[in-house]
Amino acid sequence: MSVQARPKRLSVTQIQSRKGGDKIVCLTAYTAPVARLLDAEVDLLLVGDSLAMTVYGFDSTLPVTLDMMIAHGAAVVRATQHALITVDLPFGSYQASPEQAFRAAARVMAETGCAAVKLEGGEEMAETVAFLVRRGVPVMGHVGLTPQAVNALGGYRSRGHRATERDEILRDGVAIADAGAFSLVIEGTAERLAHELTDRVAVPTIGIGGSPHCDGQILVIDDLLGLFTEFTPKFVRRYRELGEEIRAAARDYAEDVRRGRFPAEEHTYTGPRQSKKAAAE
Ligand code: KIV
Repeated sequence: MSVQARPKRLSVTQIQSRKGGDKIVCLTAYTAPVARLLDAEVDLLLVGDSLAMTVYGFDSTLPVTLDMMIAHGAAVVRATQHALITVDLPFGSYQASPEQAFRAAARVMAETGCAAVKLEGGEEMAETVAFLVRRGVPVMGHVGLTPQAVNALGGYRSRGHRATERDEILRDGVAIADAGAFSLVIEGTAERLAHELTDRVAVPTIGIGGSPHCDGQILVIDDLLGLFTEFTPKFVRRYRELGEEIRAAARDYAEDVRRGRFPAEEHTYTGPRQSKKAAAE
């Protein structure tokens, strides 16, 4: 029996060892076809709870359930073989206690096959991060602008411009890194703060509205493709305008159907062609 060499997925330890080295390229992915297209281009795919807004049309990430995250996480894992897959723990599935977080993380890892989970929060979540890591759950932290706390933060404004808030976010990041997180997302903060936090922690930082100095970057795939246009945060660069492309394709299709130009002969099942002799008979 021949054993075919299978491409190996990047591991949590490989990502962790990139601190200060080659930049870590991350994107979000929520569905199998898109994850399949992104897999070879990136190091890490995050099945983010941003799918609440990009896929389900909610106006915040709060309504996402563990079952939704598991369904999308499993689809992304099935479609990929290279990138490290990390799945967000949704709001309410981990904040109550370390034990609750472990039950949620264990379900996510067992039912999706992902290698790691991400959770939001700072010092108050450090005990939970340590609890998970000691039990074999790799954790990506997330500090700064934490969208699950949008109601407490009073909106999606960038953070850490004033000294007290800056010091708080620095303490948050250091606490999560010290608790054993393998990497740390820094979202929507003053650039200098993300820069300083990157220098202070021993694990890679992943910026989104952070700093070019972060060890890696992440964007929401729908933002990058121009598919999510309700609002575009300052930190987004749109690399394509696929929203416009989709609208144009639908417009062309509608026009063709209305004018009888689609379907054409090559799109219909006309049966085997008759030979000239049979037709003449
Ligand atoms: O849910 C998400 O997409 C995220 C990224 C923005 C980091 O948490």
